Amino acid sequence: MRATADAGTAPHDLPSVSETAFKTAMRALASTVCVITSRHSGEANGMTATAVSSVAADPPTVLVAVNRDNRSHALIRDGACFALNILCSDQHELALQFATRALQPFATVAFSEGVTGCPLIDGCGTVLECALTSSFDVATHTIFIGRVVASRGSGGSPLLYWDGQFGTVR
Ligand SMILES: Cc1cc2nc3c(=O)[nH]c(=O)nc-3n(C[C@H](O)[C@H](O)[C@H](O)COP(=O)(O)O)c2cc1C
Repeated sequence: MRATADAGTAPHDLPSVSETAFKTAMRALASTVCVITSRHSGEANGMTATAVSSVAADPPTVLVAVNRDNRSHALIRDGACFALNILCSDQHELALQFATRALQPFATVAFSEGVTGCPLIDGCGTVLECALTSSFDVATHTIFIGRVVASRGSGGSPLLYWDGQFGTVR
């Protein structure tokens, strides 16, 4: 039987799944763990993130989704830049540390400063620095789009997050 265009309910009229069902489903996604660093007016921060994606190669573009309650949100918005520090498999302590709101986020973290002024964390396999090009709000989060203005490193075994736990591929 062929489906007809008017079969079923209009997609926008369908109910959402529950938040619990959504979170359970999202546990099936294996994601690479990053620390998004930011800087504005002399204040620097970092936050652990997995809602990160490549968007396009020309111009080189990535996106990150940041909760508007996070301290990093205003720094990325007002500083108009961010850096994606892609963590290696041996850096899960950094992932835990940057998932808290430390008073001095970089007190015990070795880093250098990039061309954007954002902190670049030592020991990461890959670091991308981005200039903010656009943003839009979706529910509780803002999608920040960044053009990649500098990159360093060449990969290495990444730190993954899957089913609520950190893991590695090898
Ligand atoms: C594995 C993992 C992934 C996370 N991914 C994100 C994310 O993609 N976006 C986000 O807004 N918060 C994410 N978080 C939560 C932030 O890291 C956390 O709220 C952090 O304390 C925010 O720091 P800030 O308020 O100093 O910016 C994640 C946390 C963990 C442990």
